[in-house]
Amino acid sequence: SKGNHRHFMQKEIFEQPVVVSQTLGRYLDPIGTQVTLPKLPFDLKSVTKITLVACGTSYYAASVARYWIEKYARTPVEVDIASEFRYRDPIYAENGLCIFISQSGETADTLAALRHAKEAGQHTAAIVNVTESTMAREADIILPTYAGTEIGVASTKAFTCQLAVLAAFSVAMGVAKGLISSDTEKTLVKELEHLPAQMSTVLATEENIKAIAAEIADARDILFVGRGIHFPIAMEGALKLKEISYIHAEGYAAGELKHGPIALIDENVPVIGIAPSDGLLDKSVSNLQEIMARKGRVVLFSDHLKSLPQADLAGSFSMPSAGDLTSPILYALPVQLLAYYTALEKGTDVDQPRNLAKSVTVE
Ligand code: M6R
Repeated sequence: SKGNHRHFMQKEIFEQPVVVSQTLGRYLDPIGTQVTLPKLPFDLKSVTKITLVACGTSYYAASVARYWIEKYARTPVEVDIASEFRYRDPIYAENGLCIFISQSGETADTLAALRHAKEAGQHTAAIVNVTESTMAREADIILPTYAGTEIGVASTKAFTCQLAVLAAFSVAMGVAKGLISSDTEKTLVKELEHLPAQMSTVLATEENIKAIAAEIADARDILFVGRGIHFPIAMEGALKLKEISYIHAEGYAAGELKHGPIALIDENVPVIGIAPSDGLLDKSVSNLQEIMARKGRVVLFSDHLKSLPQADLAGSFSMPSAGDLTSPILYALPVQLLAYYTALEKGTDVDQPRNLAKSVTVE
C-alpha cells in the first residue's frame, strides 16, 4: 500500500534511506571495516575487464559505476545500453566480467545481452532487485539489491540500491586487486555507512524542491548538466523528468554545452546545474556562468551554493558534502523529487506515465 503517501513514487523516494541501508548491510561486514561480496566462482583479482550493460535508469547506474571501478580497481570498463550491445559484435576480453543491471531482471534486451556474454564464455553477474527473475537464474552470480518491490514506473529506490551495490563492488574489486589498503577500505566503508543518514537529511529538505518545480513546470525544454561522476545523474534527472512530467529534458556533460546545446539557451530554458564541490566545481561554475550570460535560468544543486551569486539564480538546493563514493547517490534524490513535484504541478499520472510499462519484456 501507499501508506500515508499520495503516490507509490513518493513512498519509494522516501524509503530510500532504509532500503539503501538494508542493501549496504548485505555488502559490509557488521563491524564496519570491510566490504563483503557473495562467494564468487572466479577470482576477482584476475578479471581483466568489466562490461556493464543495462537499460534506462539502470544504465545510468552503470555509467556512475564506471567512474568508481576505474578509480578504485584501475580496470578497464565498458558501458553500453543493452539494445545496442550485442548488435555491435562486442569485443570480449579473456577473463572478462560482464555485469547486467536490472531492477526487474526481465528486461528483454538486457537478458539477451546476458545470454550473448555467457555464450562467449564471459563471467556474468546480475544486479537485480527481483531474485526469482530470469536474469538471476541465468547469470553465474547474483548481486541482489534489497530495495523491496518497486511499483512506480519511474525507478527511484531500485536505482540508489543498484548504486549502493556497485559502490561496494568497486571497493571490493580494488581490495582484490591490492590497490586499496585496509585503512582506505575502512574509510570508504565509513563513508558508505554514513550515507543513509545523509539521504534522510536531504529528503527532510524536500519542501525546497517545490518552489523549483513551480519555477520549471511551464518550460518546454529543460537541461540538466553535470560533470564527472555526476554527469550520469544529470542524465538520470532528465529521464525522470521527461518520463513523468512529459517536459522535454536532456542531460549533458557541462563541458559539452558549448559544442552545440548552448544554442538552445534563452530566458525560457531552465538549466539544472549539478555542481558539488569536487575537483570539477570551478569548471562546472564557469559552464553555468556561460549559460547565465545567455539568459538561461540556472538552478543550482550544490554543497557550495556560494559559487554563484544567489540573486542571479532561478533557484537553488543545498546539499551536504560527500565523498565520490556516495555523492552521486545523494544527488539522485533531489533530481527524483524535482521530477515528482514537477509532475504534480502538471497533473500527470505519476505512477503510471503514458506509453510506459514497468517492465519492458519486448525488444
Ligand atoms: O527493470 P530494469 O532495471 O531492467 O528496467 C530498465 C528500464 O526500463 C527502467 O530503468 C526505465 O528506464 C525506468 N522507467 C526509468 O525510470
